[in-house]
Amino acid sequence: MRISGQSALVAGGGSGIGAAVARHLARQGARVAVLDLNGEGARAVAAEIGGLACPCDIADALATETAIAAARAAHGPARILVNCAGILAPGRTLGKDGPMPLESFRRVIEVNLVGGFNLLRLAAAGMAQLDPLGDGERGVVINVSSIAAYEGQIGQIAYATSKAGLAGMTLPAARDLARHGIRVLSIAPGLVETPMMAGVSEEQRAALAQSIPFPQRLAEPAEIAKLAQHLIENVMLNGEVVRIDGALRMAPK
Ligand SMILES: NC(=O)c1ccc[n+]([C@@H]2O[C@H](COP(=O)([O-])OP(=O)(O)OC[C@H]3O[C@@H](n4cnc5c(N)ncnc54)[C@H](O)[C@@H]3O)[C@@H](O)[C@H]2O)c1
Repeated sequence: MRISGQSALVAGGGSGIGAAVARHLARQGARVAVLDLNGEGARAVAAEIGGLACPCDIADALATETAIAAARAAHGPARILVNCAGILAPGRTLGKDGPMPLESFRRVIEVNLVGGFNLLRLAAAGMAQLDPLGDGERGVVINVSSIAAYEGQIGQIAYATSKAGLAGMTLPAARDLARHGIRVLSIAPGLVETPMMAGVSEEQRAALAQSIPFPQRLAEPAEIAKLAQHLIENVMLNGEVVRIDGALRMAPK
């Protein structure tokens, strides 16, 4: 799909990878709605790119429906959704203080996985109403998963499970939505230089970089945005999870 002139939704667009995707799509000529729980971040990015801030919790069905409706009213119906919203909550299955609180596990699944599906279903419903473009394509949805979906580390049980859910959703969602001309893809980044990594010290960061075969550095958010651009533009890509990790395969810890 050609990006220029399209209306796009970028969830988690108020920070990190999502902000880079929002900027990149805007530079390609898309009208971008920035959906984020952090209203301040969403407004700052939207102001910078001439987009629209739509603060919402992606795990909340009604709030997300309202946000997508606001984006539609301002920009027209969206043919592109890139979901970069996500949270990390470290914790072992069985920690020093006993079993992981079920609420911690549930919240990560609720935001990362249920929220991702919530966006997918609502955006797809809008896309299915649109006229088809070339190749019968009506829309494209990209979820940001993680290589933790495959190599979740010690202490990442909730996060890895949620990201594996997004990866697992990719093919069945693409199959479900094929009859509507909607493609579904996922990106599985390795380590990316974003505020999510803010808690990691310089020393730990250097050690992490050393563990990456090549190139031995964290990815820039803009590199993830460039991949999203390609996935949107190349209609033959569908139902696939694409790793972008410098050949990193994470060790147990
Ligand atoms: N940074 C990395 O190394 C890395 C690696 C692999 C995957 N990822 C994934 O990439 C995505 C983006 O991460 P990032 O590093 O840019 O993190 P980030 O913390 O900078 O950005 C995440 C954004 O999601 C928003 N968000 C959180 N919960 C939300 C909710 N319920 N509703 C709406 N918005 C919500 C936050 O407010 C924030 O703006 C996440 O899904 C993350 O899991 C990151």
